[in-house]
Amino acid sequence: MPATLDSPAGTAAVALRGVGKVFGIGDTRVAALREVDLDLPYGELVLLVGPSGCGKTTLISVVAGLLDPSEGEIEVLGESLSRMRGGRKVRFRGERIGFVFQQYNLLPALTAAENAAVPLLIAGWNRRKAVARAADLLTEVGLADKLTAYPSQLSGGQQQRVAIARALVHEPKLLVCDEPTAALDAASGRTVMGLIRKVAVEPDRAVVVVTHDSRVYDFGDRIVSMADGRVEKVEVKPAG
Ligand SMILES: Nc1ncnc2c1ncn2[C@@H]1O[C@H](COP(=O)(O)OP(=O)(O)OP(=O)(O)O)[C@@H](O)[C@H]1O
Ligand SMILES: [Mg+2]
Repeated sequence: MPATLDSPAGTAAVALRGVGKVFGIGDTRVAALREVDLDLPYGELVLLVGPSGCGKTTLISVVAGLLDPSEGEIEVLGESLSRMRGGRKVRFRGERIGFVFQQYNLLPALTAAENAAVPLLIAGWNRRKAVARAADLLTEVGLADKLTAYPSQLSGGQQQRVAIARALVHEPKLLVCDEPTAALDAASGRTVMGLIRKVAVEPDRAVVVVTHDSRVYDFGDRIVSMADGRVEKVEVKPAG
């Protein structure tokens, strides 16, 4: 039996219906997403794959509420993103969604622990408590000895692990990662994917990872292949 689409609440974590996204107008018009229907379940790590320019970043950006679709309906964590506006969407994103980007986007003047604490500080946590919670998570990703290091003193794989800790520190229900292993060598890439599995895959959470990297395919429970703005194929790994 493949993993179920049902959360305890009986809904998929992410549901897209007829989603399209067009950039530009006239001669520069690009249909980045075309009629995308997709359901992503809780409790799985979903890999989103496909050639450069096929729409992967666009898809996770609309799922994460960073980009508005041109058409279609998007439901995330039981709420209609398509109908959510302005401040409410920003809050929803800040509280319920974590992001990991290809470029780690760490703040150079903050230590590893301070960087990982940023979402809590934005949410108004007391600084000491926020940094302590971030330090716990950094310890979990193997960086206990780097809490006070600055990004410039960390390797690429270590910086990416700080970025993962930052994405998870506020315990978001949806984690989206755009090519988190792209800047890493094979071994660091596997470490990072293993960590995402270990710390983010939970029954009440959903994780989507965009990747070009066929070396990390074994870390996914489900592989969604895109081509030319469409979802072409969804493969579900047998449980086991
Ligand atoms: N802001 C934008 N303005 C205009 N066109 C865009 C914009 N963002 C993306 N596109 C176009 O939309 C299409 C999909 O882009 P997207 O970034 O989603 O691809 P991708 O699958 O993530 O590619 P890659 O693997 O290279 O990161 C491409 O043709 C791209 O040129
Ligand atoms: Mg991309």
